[in-house]
Amino acid sequence: MAQYRSDKDIQGITECCKIVAEVLNELYSYIKPGITTIEIERKADRIIKNNGAFPAFKGYTIPGLPPYPAAICASINSCIVHGIPREDVILKEGDIIGIDVGVGKNGYFGDAAKTYAVGLISNDARILMEVTEISLSNGIEQAVEGASVGDISYAIGSYVTSKGFYVADRLTGHGVGKNLHEEPMIPNHGVKGNGRRLIKGMTLAIEPMVNYGTNQVNEIGWEFFVADNSLSAHYEHTILITDHEPLILTQ
Ligand code: MF3
Ligand code: CO
Repeated sequence: MAQYRSDKDIQGITECCKIVAEVLNELYSYIKPGITTIEIERKADRIIKNNGAFPAFKGYTIPGLPPYPAAICASINSCIVHGIPREDVILKEGDIIGIDVGVGKNGYFGDAAKTYAVGLISNDARILMEVTEISLSNGIEQAVEGASVGDISYAIGSYVTSKGFYVADRLTGHGVGKNLHEEPMIPNHGVKGNGRRLIKGMTLAIEPMVNYGTNQVNEIGWEFFVADNSLSAHYEHTILITDHEPLILTQ
């Protein structure tokens, strides 16, 4: 349960989130046409371990699938989330790639994701990325003590829909802190006022996954794809609920 946390807990979670942010920031200059997703994996893994932490996704299990094999998810174009890094997948000009990073240290966790442009990308791709990133900001803005999970969900989903895009079915954000995934789930669409009340000290991973052409998804093993093969973008931050503005821990 994501609920009240001690100062020590919040410090530990903050430390993990800083490492996540360092990885994602380092990747801006690294992601270019011609590199492979396994090279991104290795760079991320090195930064995590240099910080005395471990990659929280590696070995993560859910029923029915082999343990997740990598430190990051690298989800290209129509891959929504959980793309597995590969030796033989080479980034090309015009791709967009979502990189998702989870870090564990001292019993605490942090989780965030960003979508990166590979070289010059289409206007459609640029707009999809912008709308997804703004939807995350809109969701975060709602995350204050006394608001509800539904307020976050509504802010994300209504903005995405107003721009003509689609929130990916079945995929949600989540509590994070002493585990990678905790309660409550944070859907990316919903009804204002519905769901759990937010209280000071909760740490949440808010993560809109936005598709260009349809909300429908296809699952192939770990990997989720847009059913019509159109583009998808993903941004995620771990945030701390306070009695004022939420604190973005993975900035
Ligand atoms: N940030 C993603 C999530 O919360 C990444 C999970 S990858 C997994 O679902 F391997 F850990 F599942
Ligand atoms: Co997450």
